[in-house]
Amino acid sequence: MERENFRSRFGALMAMAGSAVGLGNLWRFPYMVGEYGGGAFIFIYIFCVFLLCLPILCAEMIIGRRSQSNAFGAFKRLAPGSVWKWTGILMVVTPVIVVSYYSVIGGWSIEYLYRAFCLDFTVNSQSAADLGGVFGDFISSIWAPLVCHTIFLLVTMSVVIGGVENGIEKFGKIMMPMLFLIVVIIAVTSFYLPDAGKGLVYLFKPDFSKINAGVCVAALGQAFFSLSTGFGIMLTYSSYISRKDNLASSSFHIAVADFIFAIIASCAIMPAVFSFGLSPQAGPGLVFETLPFIFSRMPAGGFVAILFFAALFVAALTSSVSIFEVGVAYLVEDRKMSRRKASFIVFAVTWVIGAFCSLSFGPLSGFRIFNETIFNFFDKLSANVLMTAGALLTVLFVGWKMKRSDVMDEFTNGGCLDTNVRIFGAVYFMVRYVAPLAILAIFVFNLL
Ligand code: PHE
Repeated sequence: MERENFRSRFGALMAMAGSAVGLGNLWRFPYMVGEYGGGAFIFIYIFCVFLLCLPILCAEMIIGRRSQSNAFGAFKRLAPGSVWKWTGILMVVTPVIVVSYYSVIGGWSIEYLYRAFCLDFTVNSQSAADLGGVFGDFISSIWAPLVCHTIFLLVTMSVVIGGVENGIEKFGKIMMPMLFLIVVIIAVTSFYLPDAGKGLVYLFKPDFSKINAGVCVAALGQAFFSLSTGFGIMLTYSSYISRKDNLASSSFHIAVADFIFAIIASCAIMPAVFSFGLSPQAGPGLVFETLPFIFSRMPAGGFVAILFFAALFVAALTSSVSIFEVGVAYLVEDRKMSRRKASFIVFAVTWVIGAFCSLSFGPLSGFRIFNETIFNFFDKLSANVLMTAGALLTVLFVGWKMKRSDVMDEFTNGGCLDTNVRIFGAVYFMVRYVAPLAILAIFVFNLL
């Protein structure tokens, strides 16, 4: 059977950017910035993305394109008969867990989009606390979040069933530029609010006294999550890229796009938060509790609310499609299933795990695993343990297990790309020494 591929370089890039740009940029990044000291966090984040995550991303893409295989098969092919096959297993299991709980939040965005259409956020008699209560009531109820989770997962599955070229590539090519436009429109609206400048100062004038180990760990974790590294996703997608593509420039473009999205999302949110005298430190509720309050008070807020939650939904969807695809690619290529059947199986498994995550905000909130609710347990397990382990194993594999000449061959397209030949030494050094040590340091810090 011939493997599917991305048809165009633009399509491949959009699909990968679609994976990277998601809830991590629009929902997680702004509240992390708020929690970890504004500009200081962004300052550290820049180093994490471009110095550490970029080489890791490159390493993942090298494995994917070299092996021409999904995450599981890749390690078996490049290191047959070795324990590395467990890395492949890890990289298939992690995304299945992540897509389960990611879909719960994706479902929330559906509910909020629906409410925005019902003009719920134009009633300006509600206080910020009222809106927080509305959010709390919603996530702790049984049926509404479950239904939203189901719809979100069904839409994800239908894109994946469409396949690489007709589903994922087409979808990304249309959705990503549209998403960009929406976020820019909101940011511009936000700039014109009274006192918006305070928010910009908060974002772009770093207060270096706020930098500490906690900020660094949070920034690196955010960078991993946001760039989708350590999940076998970029690996799987790169196996669909053409041999002629330049991996270094592709990974650079993805990192830049992801970074720009995160910054613009913060520019859409923070000036508004400051303009209305709210706290930037609202945590995970920032987007669902604070923003509706702002929408209800700003000019054309009802319309902006629709745009924003539509953007959140689209961003979440392009990411969840990529996470879903990892499991499907494994079942299709290594278990020889049809794409449709594989998709149904991944759907069933992730629906069940996601349902438990969703219920853990309400009826199951008393049920604890290692002292955490089910949702928090899966979130922490994947973000702090599985993802970090995946990233570490990826760089160790490329830096220490693969032959240097093979890595160089893939990175420079057989020596054809002059710039890549020149920077190879530095990138290889990062992958072999700096990245593993940095990840290990974070890992240990997190455990403590
Ligand atoms: N990077 C995505 C985001 O920013 C989330 C994601 C994580 C996607 C892991 C794939 C894998 O939302």
